[in-house]
Amino acid sequence: MKQRTLAILKPDCVRKNLIGKVVKKMEEAGFKIVGMKMVKLDSNTAGEFYAVHKERPFFYDLVSFMSSAPCVPIVLEKENAIEDFRKLIGATDPAQAEDGTIRKLYADSKEQNIVHGSDAPETAEYEIKYFFSSKELVENYG
Ligand code: CMP
Repeated sequence: MKQRTLAILKPDCVRKNLIGKVVKKMEEAGFKIVGMKMVKLDSNTAGEFYAVHKERPFFYDLVSFMSSAPCVPIVLEKENAIEDFRKLIGATDPAQAEDGTIRKLYADSKEQNIVHGSDAPETAEYEIKYFFSSKELVENYG
């Protein structure tokens, strides 16, 4: 069954002019883009999105990084999208990521790791709704 996941091209991806290259990897891996926009998060919004990490030592740095420049939330659709997208992006720390993954190719560190991907069906649903209304998502690709 088709599944949806939320990707975010993070501020380092936008700053390094890598949007096109990362989107190409998504398309080549068989993901359909069913929603896409550019947003500049403020620290409140970034903090709310990452609220699950608020007790972690890296929370403040994560929020300031995510609000430092625009980012690009994208809703991707495919069979097994959540797990397959996590495989395509690779481990959080690019040094641990497998060859050919997006983070191995383009990320500098686990703090600035180019792209986010939802980690489970419940988080995907929450995260997609966080950025997109149903009118902003394509239902039938044609
Ligand atoms: P992401 O998948 O967007 O979800 C949480 C983010 O926290 C993660 O990617 C990392 O980029 C970021 N992060 C920053 N520091 C750390 C850390 N020490 N361990 C894990 N994640 C971190």
